[in-house]
Amino acid sequence: MKKHHIQFEFTECSSTAELAAPDKRLLEAAIKARKNAYAPYSGFKVGAAVLLENGEIVVGNNQENASYPAGLCAERVAIFQAGAIYPNVAVLSVAISAAAEAHVVDRPAGPCGSCRQAMMEYEQKQNSPIRLLMQGEEGPIYICNAIADILPLAFGNSFLDNS
Ligand code: THU
Repeated sequence: MKKHHIQFEFTECSSTAELAAPDKRLLEAAIKARKNAYAPYSGFKVGAAVLLENGEIVVGNNQENASYPAGLCAERVAIFQAGAIYPNVAVLSVAISAAAEAHVVDRPAGPCGSCRQAMMEYEQKQNSPIRLLMQGEEGPIYICNAIADILPLAFGNSFLDNS
């Protein structure tokens, strides 16, 4: 029997003042996108901004539905849109901003499992890491170096490859 130990490192910035200019811009784009979220059922609004290698920023926000499971998270709206418009351009970073109507979100909200899996697909496709920046409505910013770091033992296309 063998025990494995998985560790990962992420950076915490206490405010946007500590961010490099491109990261600050990306987070600002996520905050702006968050304000246009369609979240009448949960009152929880999320914005995501995807920075591509060509310098373009593609945004998304959560889109809810009266048939709840038909809605989609901000991160997937954004990354699918980026994949649709720029299918061959690598994703460098994704910024996520979350806020609730009923209370102040004062810590970063990590992406849900399905969004981690969806973003992981692009990381594997482009064979380079996607950085992740997250912030609540206020409070610290967490920066992760790769989606793989927050989705250990992930499922991926290598399991489907029989050649
Ligand atoms: N949501 C996101 O947009 N991203 C996440 O990673 C977590 C949750 C949305 C889905 C739903 O519209 C609302 O937040 C409450 O779950």
